[in-house]
Amino acid sequence: MILVTGGAGFIGSNFILDWLSQSNESVINLDKLTYAGNLQNLVTIADDKRHIFVKGDIGDSGQVARLMTEYQPRAIINFAAESHVDRSILGPEAFIQTNIVGTFRLLETAHAYWKTLNQADKHDFRFLHVSTDEVYGSLTEREPAFTEIHRYQPSSPYSASKASSDHLVNAYHRTFGLPTLITNCSNNYGPYQFPEKLIPLMITNALADKPLPIYGDGKQVRDWLYVSDHCSALRRVLEAGKTGETYNIGGWNEKPNIEIVHTVCALLKEMTGGPANGDYRDLITYVKDRPGHDTRYAIDARKIEHELDWKPRETFETGICKTVQWYLDNQDWVASVQTGAYRDWIESNYIQQRQ
Ligand code: NAD
Ligand code: TYD
Repeated sequence: MILVTGGAGFIGSNFILDWLSQSNESVINLDKLTYAGNLQNLVTIADDKRHIFVKGDIGDSGQVARLMTEYQPRAIINFAAESHVDRSILGPEAFIQTNIVGTFRLLETAHAYWKTLNQADKHDFRFLHVSTDEVYGSLTEREPAFTEIHRYQPSSPYSASKASSDHLVNAYHRTFGLPTLITNCSNNYGPYQFPEKLIPLMITNALADKPLPIYGDGKQVRDWLYVSDHCSALRRVLEAGKTGETYNIGGWNEKPNIEIVHTVCALLKEMTGGPANGDYRDLITYVKDRPGHDTRYAIDARKIEHELDWKPRETFETGICKTVQWYLDNQDWVASVQTGAYRDWIESNYIQQRQ
């Protein structure tokens, strides 16, 4: 079986659903259930014996060690993280604790467990660390996309904490021989994404007739990948990636934020016929920029394409249609994640910081 951490979050839950639809190998899902973790994402596999959910923290070495001894996983896929840049600006502490200290403790526990394995199992074991393109920092308009050897130059407490965790993972490979893999992926979108990130926030705000906040001039560029393509890339890296290596994952889909928001507005109009008066675009509101806002991210995904024969299946056009439709079909899910804690967050990010 495999151990997935952070499997109740956006990408982790998509990964587990995809995994169990294609494989009979069981998954232990260790998740702290922070505001971003939601077991409703996994309701369709609630009765599936191949999914074992355990509430816990990757930094709790005792609990993680007991799980590893009991279940003897052949691989760990580490999704667990604090993942939102704006939250890292308002409160970096949790990012340092989970993304750096938590990853360090998980590596320590994995290393201690790995040393107890027999030669064959040691050889086959994998620690796959799921990271982000944000570790590379910001590109200018004309610079080439990030390759795996691009220098690390993170801008936010979030990306700095992820960069730090990547270095630790590489150190455990170089120093102790732990069979690690790192993936650095571009911005994901799709079902079950918490509506604090750009695309789900715009969909849910538009449907609720609330402002669509664009940071700065809205010309910042992100490289978007549909989440199931990220999941298929991770499966491929786990299966065939060379230990000690990094693989960049991206969809060759660079788009300025404002264009994304225009697309979302147009699709909503087409799919709902609304809003009654005017256009969803009328809700667009330019707000104060994010401090240290990275101008552009772009992934050069040729290594994973050439070495592991992986390519995304979705285009942005197909992926964004599926995503908007999913949010329209799952408004109960949206309502349930918009808890009191979420409303407090909206208050501190958009009302106190951006006026
Ligand atoms: P998310 O915030 O939706 O989910 C994170 C999950 O981790 C949640 O279920 C949360 O409860 C859990 N968690 C947090 N702290 C924990 C801890 N200490 N112990 C155990 N579980 C904990 O994040 P996501 O968007 O699904 O991202 C998953 C991973 O992918 C992250 O490592 C992120 O850096 C990386 N990533 C995300 C994107 C993106 O666009 N979302 C892109 C590239 C890489
Ligand atoms: P986000 O989804 O937070 O991802 P990241 O910062 O990790 O790339 O933001 C994507 C882009 O959208 C980023 O340039 C910031 C911008 N943005 C807005 O303009 N308004 C918003 O309300 C949010 C959440 C993001």
